[in-house]
Amino acid sequence: MKLRGTMKVNLAGHLEIGGYDAVQLARDFGTPLYVMDEAMIREICGQYRASFIMKHHAEVFYASKAFLTMAMCRIIEQEGLGLDVVSGGELYTAIKAKFPPGRICFHGNNKQLDELRLALEYGVGRIVVDNYREIEMLGSLAEQMGRTAEVLLRVSPGVEAHTHEYIKTGQIDSKFGFTVPNGQALDAVKRCLAVKSLELRGIHCHIGSQVFEMESFGYTAGIMMELARDIYRETGLEIKELNLGGGFGIYYAEGDEPSRIEKYAEAVTDAIARKAGEYGLKPPRLMIEPGRSIVGEAGTTLYTVGSTKEIPGVRKYVAVDGGMSDNPRHALYQARYEACLANRMNSPAEEKVAITGKCCESGDMLIWDLPLPKVEAGDILAVACTGAYNYSMSMNYNRLCRPAVVLVQDGAAEVIVERENYEDLLRNDRIPKRLRQAKPVRLASRR
Ligand code: LLP
Repeated sequence: MKLRGTMKVNLAGHLEIGGYDAVQLARDFGTPLYVMDEAMIREICGQYRASFIMKHHAEVFYASKAFLTMAMCRIIEQEGLGLDVVSGGELYTAIKAKFPPGRICFHGNNKQLDELRLALEYGVGRIVVDNYREIEMLGSLAEQMGRTAEVLLRVSPGVEAHTHEYIKTGQIDSKFGFTVPNGQALDAVKRCLAVKSLELRGIHCHIGSQVFEMESFGYTAGIMMELARDIYRETGLEIKELNLGGGFGIYYAEGDEPSRIEKYAEAVTDAIARKAGEYGLKPPRLMIEPGRSIVGEAGTTLYTVGSTKEIPGVRKYVAVDGGMSDNPRHALYQARYEACLANRMNSPAEEKVAITGKCCESGDMLIWDLPLPKVEAGDILAVACTGAYNYSMSMNYNRLCRPAVVLVQDGAAEVIVERENYEDLLRNDRIPKRLRQAKPVRLASRR
């Protein structure tokens, strides 16, 4: 397993993250446990700051769908980034963490009236308008509230990034945004311009996630600049902001070859400058929304090994105390992960095993072929690169409790999300009165 961020192997032969022994983390906080390496998150934020904000006066909004808690909002605020939210729930988290409203960008393909109202009341900086209904809805709401909403228009540029089918969002056949090639995007611009309470600042797209080809981003930036040119020609409106979404790929397992963040910055800024020159336009302010690349590699999940099942000539299943409930990504996208035994880092691999969870579902797999030392019950398995879209996509299937999240730094660990308990699972359950009394079913007498 590749060691990332502050990970190292300590004198006890244990994995250490943020200066804290991972075996001790498992003892102190229980398993499954999400461990977030604060220094690594900050380091990557720093790289985005240097490559995009300082060098190109761009704005970087952390896509909070990847991993959001109130503590995370505080880190992002301190790092000088903005926050991308896609629901009232994410927005509420930001509000409760006192995240500066002007630095929030609000997305979503079906925003509800109360979500838009919350956004306007809190004064979020940008609302990314996705569809005709939203233009009408936001327009009249803003007017009623005596506000002007600063908006970007979500468009679907018709670019297909090479990634897993479900993670593509920029192609033509997509539920997101107004389509560019068929003229819908241009039409939507005109509609927005006709609404007094909306100030159209720019355009937005997102071509997909876990994208490695920097040319895809450059190419998309070019298409978006073509749209900016068409908008200018048709309406006289100069696009001031160009938001290219997120999608920068990271290393999960062998075969993944991410670029450097500076390369990403160059690919898009070069394309924008070139096209702006060609079309005689002022280059718009660049905005991006990285999610996965900020938190993905900074997260590790610790599990305790339990039962094993060996099928001679087939494979050996090793079950851990979590699974698809805390990490549904293999089940959903065949995502690949690397892992190791945190308590035996110096032992050589002796067998290939399949890591499965404890959910009642055959698809509850985390890793199919993992080389490990001879595994025993009680070993601590560390699965790397679980910082993005794990906690945020976790669920209570089989009424499993969600794990705790701890933030480690300089040898200290703090809980930022408490472990769920059985009472939490029942908090919203209600038994209707008529079901409260026992009412035995009379069984027909059997012969
Ligand atoms: N901006 C927009 C508009 C997005 O739709 C997304 C991700 C992002 C930014 C952040 O993209 P990132 O930098 O994280 O790639 N659940 C999937 C990922 C879905 C991503 C959806 N949109 C997974 O676990 O891989």
